[in-house]
Amino acid sequence: MTGGLVDLRSDTVTKPTRGMREAIAAAEVGDDVYGEDPTVRELEERVAGLLGHEAALFTGTGSLANLLGVALLVRPGQELLCDAQAHVVRAELGAHASVHGVTTRTWHAERGLLDADEVLAMVAPDAGPFIVRTAAIAVENSHNFGGGTVQPIEQLQRLRSGALERGVSVHLDGARLWNAHVASGTSLQEYGACADTVMVALSKGLGAPVGSLLVSSADRIAAARDQRKRLGGGMRQVGILAAAGLYALDTHLERLADDHAHARRLADVLGVDPATVDTNIVIGDVADAPAVAAAAAEEGVLVSALGPRILRAVTHLDVDEAGIERAVDVLGRALKG
Ligand SMILES: Cc1ncc(COP(=O)(O)O)c(C=O)c1O
Repeated sequence: MTGGLVDLRSDTVTKPTRGMREAIAAAEVGDDVYGEDPTVRELEERVAGLLGHEAALFTGTGSLANLLGVALLVRPGQELLCDAQAHVVRAELGAHASVHGVTTRTWHAERGLLDADEVLAMVAPDAGPFIVRTAAIAVENSHNFGGGTVQPIEQLQRLRSGALERGVSVHLDGARLWNAHVASGTSLQEYGACADTVMVALSKGLGAPVGSLLVSSADRIAAARDQRKRLGGGMRQVGILAAAGLYALDTHLERLADDHAHARRLADVLGVDPATVDTNIVIGDVADAPAVAAAAAEEGVLVSALGPRILRAVTHLDVDEAGIERAVDVLGRALKG
């Protein structure tokens, strides 16, 4: 192997920078279950404001924020509509069903791209004891397994107004909403206005070691705070982690544009049209994804085989331009077999 490891398996593999570690060390803290951690409160207020909602709740993971957010909108035995590749239905190990009794019905979408009218046509109104009632729709922006796809704001707005007309709520899984915002120029407030509950993650492209937030109305967040505690997710002097999030928002948001440029650079070699790479994720359709991933790993370039033919590479702040060039070279050879 020449050069260091180039780890493109996920944008969750980043390590806290020196500046972030200094922010962590300097954080003022208190017992957050008592509501006394000033740094957590600052982060929650800041993120709620960025998204134009009343309140936010800091959680240890995006999965927990999604779990709490969906449970605010969907009662046991009701249904959540989401696309078949959504993280909430594919990668949270059945949490919404097993913990909160939520049922799901899915739609298929090329690259995870939302077609609001198609989704609204699936909504099942209350039909008494015959048909499961749709209580909420979940959308993911950017869309992870779709390949970092950014949902057009017009579609999100159409979904939101159609859902309101039908008495149905919207949950936005915005683990990478920051990427969508930087790529599209659509403001976080505009995105926030399209949903009742929003999850955003600090531990993906923003590079914090831990943390997500659930954003919604003050009443809903108060209920989610209770449920977080009930599930064992109350945390104490957690301002040390909130400080990493505040630092990330200050210093790592705008630079996501670099990750997006790096992803487009990787597109060609994975047989993907760069014009379809919206953000920091590239998903290639290759003949033998596990074999390619294994060959690249031998040379120090890590990518994920998400299926027999699905290869995923995710760019992030721990991979610079030289790393990307090495990945292009190594993956090019690995793909030739
Ligand atoms: C779209 C999406 N939603 C939710 C999550 C869950 O986040 P966490 O790993 O912090 O639970 C992820 C994680 O990668 C994700 O990609």
